[in-house]
Amino acid sequence: MSSKIVISDSVEELAGNFASILLHDVNNGRGLFNLALSGGSTPKVVFDFLALDYKTKIEWNKIRFFWGDERCVPPDHPDSNYLMTYKHLFSKIVIPEKNVFRIKGENETELETLRYSEVILKNVPSVNDIPSFDLIMLGLGEDGHTASIFPDSINLINSKRICEVSQHPVFSQKRITLSGTVINNSKKVVFLITGKNKNKIIDIIVNRKEGFEKLPASHINPVKGELIWLLDKESGEGLSTF
Ligand code: 6PG
Repeated sequence: MSSKIVISDSVEELAGNFASILLHDVNNGRGLFNLALSGGSTPKVVFDFLALDYKTKIEWNKIRFFWGDERCVPPDHPDSNYLMTYKHLFSKIVIPEKNVFRIKGENETELETLRYSEVILKNVPSVNDIPSFDLIMLGLGEDGHTASIFPDSINLINSKRICEVSQHPVFSQKRITLSGTVINNSKKVVFLITGKNKNKIIDIIVNRKEGFEKLPASHINPVKGELIWLLDKESGEGLSTF
């Protein structure tokens, strides 16, 4: 596993760094590119940037879109990661419908977890019998969660299942998430993190400070892949790049 930290002067520069990675990996790759998207609010500026500046640069029809996690709500619910992606990306560029693999948050949770696991198994080639995404986008919560693997469900990091059910520890909202096993089997994992409020938790994780082992994001280490931390200057303050 190789890893690096890239600290950008602005969120736009961070978005540009991610766009360059995606452009290179998609356009230089052979065949379809299996991408798992993150949710929350950070991706909004990245998706807006991609839609504006990379609308014609990236070979979008080569990408198959999955999600690393989804809230168990309908696709028109304000909390839906799919809705956020549609508003900031899909509504602005041409994406073949057949290449969008939405987690159906409106379905019964356990059944949807099983269904989505099958969708991934069918469409994402496996390495060592585990689906291996070409790139997984991740965000980071202030509590050290990533995807929807929270500290109180850190066991999902090593789950043998492809997808798992989890629950937001404060709001109790049910989630469907990729397991850490699948995340760590991907070819590339890119954290996209902005804001001063994330600086402390990043420092604990990347510098293995006291309590890091209790944080799910500390256990994201692609077995044979690359780990890239894309930070802005607020979230990356005081950290050394490598
Ligand atoms: C989600 C995400 C989650 C998110 C972090 C950071 O569905 O909420 O997948 O892991 O990436 O909570 O969220 P922000 O980008 O909103 O800070």
